[in-house]
Amino acid sequence: MKKISIAIDGPAAAGKSTIAKMVARNLNYTYIDTGAMYRCVAYSAFVHGISYEDEAGVVGLLKDLKIKLLPDGSIRLNGEDVSSAIRANEVSMGASIVSQYAKVRSFLVAQQREMAKGGGVILDGRDIGTVVLPEAELKIYQVASVETRAKRRYKENIEKGIECDYDEMKAEIAKRDAQDMNREVSPLKKADDAIELDTSNMSLEEVVAHVMDLVEKKL
Ligand code: C5P
Repeated sequence: MKKISIAIDGPAAAGKSTIAKMVARNLNYTYIDTGAMYRCVAYSAFVHGISYEDEAGVVGLLKDLKIKLLPDGSIRLNGEDVSSAIRANEVSMGASIVSQYAKVRSFLVAQQREMAKGGGVILDGRDIGTVVLPEAELKIYQVASVETRAKRRYKENIEKGIECDYDEMKAEIAKRDAQDMNREVSPLKKADDAIELDTSNMSLEEVVAHVMDLVEKKL
């Protein structure tokens, strides 16, 4: 059967990765979490004591960064399992700052294209349909209200035993969206040929079924 490339873009905490993982499993495709790669750059700056605002310092780290996305979903940075560490709020905000740097983006985009070569892939991020894979056969722009997104993320954290404040979380998500949408290089925006999917009032199962329908039409 034909193997296509699927791009899922959208604002922070819209549930892109959950959907992408489930669809990838159904289709036996490779899931590529591009946000995790920006998080690795921010995490590296954090552990080296380099300010996220220090563009030259952050760019200087790139040559020594070996990021690996393993098939089980775990993330390795120079051999270290950073899967949980890169999800910290501090690192989320850092990722949104370092992702503004053109050299950081070109470094990661080249690796993302290499991984996506050959199709049978589903990538989620902010610039997949617009920059990384403009030729992707299916592009989805997944959105949900900031309240829905903050509620989902809050619930996830509480279930994982991570303490957090709902209002703070909502404010951080809104701030990250504004940064991602207003940056100069590859801002978050819907590709002209992307299908917008508002999941505010949809269950996970409904979203996956809808995306699977869209995929079927492309095969
Ligand atoms: O998707 P996730 O929330 O893990 O991404 C973290 C941050 O990385 C985003 O807020 C965004 O600034 C950046 N990012 C990006 N381009 C991508 C994926 C993520 O700029 N393709």
